[in-house]
Amino acid sequence: MPARLIDGKAIAASIRERLAVDVATFRQATHRIPKLAAVLVGDDPASQVYVRNKEQACTKVGMASDVHRLPSTTTQTQLLELIARLNADSDVHGILVQLPLPKQIHETTVLDAVDPLKDVDCFHPENVGRMVQGRPRFLPCTPHGVQVLLRESGTTVDGAHVVVLGRSEIVGKPVGMMLVQKGETANATVTICHSRTKNLAEITRSADILIAAIGRPEFVTADLVRPGAVVIDVGINRLGDRLVGDVAFAAVSEVASAITPVPGGVGPMTIAMLLENTLTAAKLQSVAAQ
Ligand code: GUN
Repeated sequence: MPARLIDGKAIAASIRERLAVDVATFRQATHRIPKLAAVLVGDDPASQVYVRNKEQACTKVGMASDVHRLPSTTTQTQLLELIARLNADSDVHGILVQLPLPKQIHETTVLDAVDPLKDVDCFHPENVGRMVQGRPRFLPCTPHGVQVLLRESGTTVDGAHVVVLGRSEIVGKPVGMMLVQKGETANATVTICHSRTKNLAEITRSADILIAAIGRPEFVTADLVRPGAVVIDVGINRLGDRLVGDVAFAAVSEVASAITPVPGGVGPMTIAMLLENTLTAAKLQSVAAQ
């Protein structure tokens, strides 16, 4: 029997509906509008699409957004100056620096410069540290989106063996850390695999939940998946004129019990979680200002 589809688009839409109500309540109570400042350096086409989608999503739930578009020749000093201005601007509650950055700019230096209270990506070491210790201020957007998809699809995470493919700072590491925590939709036994992992197929075939976040088109083939596993595909890759995930969708659907599509799976969840973090940031800053 083919796998059940985990519909990220629909789940994200219902989260955005709830958020629109919460934003209206916040605006009424504080007379302030939660605002996201997105910073886009250079002209990477995919980044341009992501930033535009984030901007539109803000407007739809009643939040404000500014996009700061800088040329690919921007120096690190210029970018740090912009971040310092956004940190100091009390009308800006969330700051997102779209990655990747051009190579003359040291990514970590820039991400560390974002005020931790405005760090809606949850990339700042203070926020990552808090999350790992189980006392989060923000949760990282894509990993949180994956967790909500698991919860909303009724997947049992407690005690499950979760295998994560990929050890990136944005997805692989944080999603593993979140699912191993004590708590709801957590308490998993987590294995994080990467390019040096030995016996990869043996490990992935022991997964109750397989999370693919390696950025390699259709890498996860049916023989890597245990029959009945839940498969979450974080990848977005261009293959010719097709958009595909890290999972060979058609073949894996025949083996898995549930699976996320690409597009329409994890992608829309990432944006919904970003909006949620922006509202959280606005709330935190309105408390800090009192
Ligand atoms: N580039 C790819 N994914 C992300 C993300 O989640 N946040 C930011 N800022 N840039 C990205």
